Formats: sequence, structure tokens, C-alpha cells
Amino acid sequence: MLSNHVLALALACSAIALPIMKREVPQEHSHNIVLASVRPMLALDNPNNIEDPVFGLLGNAAAAAGAGSITNLDCLQQDTADQAFTNAKAAGNVTGMTYALIYRAIERNTAAVGQASVICNETAKNPEIAAITQHQDPASANAATTNKNIVLALAKQIASVGGDPQLALTSGTFAPGTIGDPTAAGNTCDVADDEPGCIFSQNLLVDDATAAEISAAVAGVAATSAAASAASTAAASATTAADDSTATCASIATVTITVTDAATATAATDVASATAAATTTAAAAAATSAASGANLQTFTGALGGVAAPAVTAGGRGFEVAGETGESFLNVAAALGRSCDVQHNQCADAANSGGQSFTVGDCDTQDTQCKAAAN
Ligand SMILES: *[C@@H]1O[C@H](CO)[C@@H](O)[C@H](O)[C@H]1NC(C)=O
Ligand SMILES: *[C@@H]1O[C@H](CO)[C@@H](O)[C@H](O)[C@H]1NC(C)=O
Repeated sequence: MLSNHVLALALACSAIALPIMKREVPQEHSHNIVLASVRPMLALDNPNNIEDPVFGLLGNAAAAAGAGSITNLDCLQQDTADQAFTNAKAAGNVTGMTYALIYRAIERNTAAVGQASVICNETAKNPEIAAITQHQDPASANAATTNKNIVLALAKQIASVGGDPQLALTSGTFAPGTIGDPTAAGNTCDVADDEPGCIFSQNLLVDDATAAEISAAVAGVAATSAAASAASTAAASATTAADDSTATCASIATVTITVTDAATATAATDVASATAAATTTAAAAAATSAASGANLQTFTGALGGVAAPAVTAGGRGFEVAGETGESFLNVAAALGRSCDVQHNQCADAANSGGQSFTVGDCDTQDTQCKAAAN
């Protein structure tokens, strides 16, 4: 059985300046959370000097402005995803790997409604990235079938690295636009400062598959080699970072160690103790709790008496109380879901009136809950 304990060592790093971005048919900010998640992974090691993940979602003319040394612009999205995935894997960051995969599957801008984007003709270094292509314009030929197959392929790859395969649905696109629309915008949105992204906040996402279809597609996909080798790579790079006083901010900004069994747990604990003794103690406590079936959700905030639901070992790895029929390979994903459930219930209570707290207070509590999960 796979038992994942994610031990995160985050070192402070100065903010990365973002470039001015050119635009074509604008929807490249529709899935902002994906860009925001890929950006720090790409920044860990960016030998091609790709300016920002947003350029891979633009048409070629605009993409050229931020492609660094990538000359085959039809492959900029794949190259960006591939590098971010490589970096996230080296850091053992399952969330980072998951979002690199999701990013690879997002639709690219094209010049007209119904026009499909060119498929990259190169092979990605990571087989997980190579298994996926981008969504196509929902008004293009066979789009519903094409896009559903992309989401199911993406779900399998996410499951294979230990992420939550249901997140594959977030790579989806908009309802089809009208062929011949002179604005070329279709039913899209593009709001640069909307987090997590206007396709989500404006409720414009069209699911390509049902949750049950995702679950069926990933049945039998085990989180195997990638997650395990990420753990050992991360342990090695943590050692290097600890030993190398000249290591740069970018290369050691974040290190997550995924522990898959008792033997590697010991090795990882040794590495970590050189770096962060306090965190090691917490991880060891979490490991003990997981083994005994105890509640791994340590956040105690409970506005309106609503606590974050318990997270316990079970199912494919971890389960969240009340979330029947779903389990998580990764404790971080389970803790995040627990915080989300609490946030929804808190906001419902605030909206029902007569409470001494607001939805804004629920947002603040959610931030605290997520911070505790890290
Ligand atoms: C892992 O990657 C995600 C997505 O980029 C990022 O938000 C998170 O901070 C990373 N975690 C660590 C511990 O570095
Ligand atoms: C891929 O397409 C580009 C642009 O059309 C072309 O220059 C390149 O030779 C092609 N590469 C392969 C491997 O087919």
C-alpha cells in the first residue's frame, strides 16, 4: 500500500517579476490558477529562458515575444509543461507535477472560432507530458470527442504521479462559439487578475467528462515510478541544497519530499533533519498518526462551529470525512479538500444571515487552514 507523507521545506525567495504580455484572441488568463502554479515550477530551472507560461497559450505571433530560445512555437506549450514537470518532479512536488500536466492540456488561442491549434510535432522528454495534447476549440471538428479523450488521458497521468485525477476536468474549455464570429472570441473570458481564473469564477467551464468517467478511466492506474523516483530525487537534491552554501534561490526555492515506505521515510528524515528539524518532527508525528488512523487535519479554526472535516488514512491513501466515494493518493490533496469543505459550509452559514462573521472571514479562515496543511 502506498502511504504518502508530504514533507514540505519552503525557503523564502524574492518575487519573480512578470513580463508585459502581448495578446491575441484573449483567453489565455481564463485558467489563471494553472499559470500561477506552473510559473514557480518553471522558474526553478528555465534553461530556455521562457518568459512566462502564458506565452505557450498564445498564438504563434504573440508567443514569439516570450518564447526565449524555443523556435518551434507550436511546441512552446509542450516545452513549458515539460520543463515545469521536470522541475516539479525533481522537487518531489506532486501539485507542481499535476499543474504542469493540466497546463499541457489547456486550449491555445487561435485566430478564429472553430479553428484548431497545431499539435506539437516533437516528443516531450517526460512520457507523462508526451501522453497529452492541448484542448481544441469547442467549435472545431470532433471537439467533444477529442477533448473528452484529452481529459481522460490527463486524468490517468495525474493519477500516475499521485495527484487528484478529478482535477483533469479543470483543464476543460468553454461552450462552443459561433463559426464566423468576427470577434473570434466565442464564449470565452480573459481576466488577468481573476484568481483562480474567470472560466471558474464566471462558471463558464464545460466539463468534458463526468466524475464517474474519470474514476473509471483511472481505475488500476497506480502512482508508481514517477512519485517514487521524485522522492529519491528530492532527497538527493535536498542534500545538495543543504551542503551547498552557494545554492541559488531559484534552485532550492521549494523542496517536497514524498515518503512512500518505511525505508525511505528514514532516509528522508535524515536529510530533512539537516535542514529543518522542527518540520521533521511534525512529519514524524503525521506518519505515526496516519498509521494509527488518527485525524491528520490539525487545523482547529471553526467559525460558526464548523470544523474542517477529519482526514484519515484509507481508500487509495487518504479520505476526508463526509466525502464518500472519493479518496486521495496524497495527504496534501486530502487536507486541501478538507479546508475547501469547511470553507463552503462556512460561506453557506455566513450567507444564510444572522451570523457574527462574513464570507470574507471564511476566506481568511480558509487561508489559515491551507497554511496549516502546508
Ligand atoms: C508545489 O507546487 C505548487 C504549484 O506550483 C506550489 O504552489 C507549491 O508552493 C509547491 N509546494 C512546495 C512545497 O514547494
Ligand atoms: C516540426 O515542425 C516544424 C515547423 O513546421 C519544422 O520546422 C520541424 O522540422 C518539424 N520537426 C519535426 C521533428 O518534424
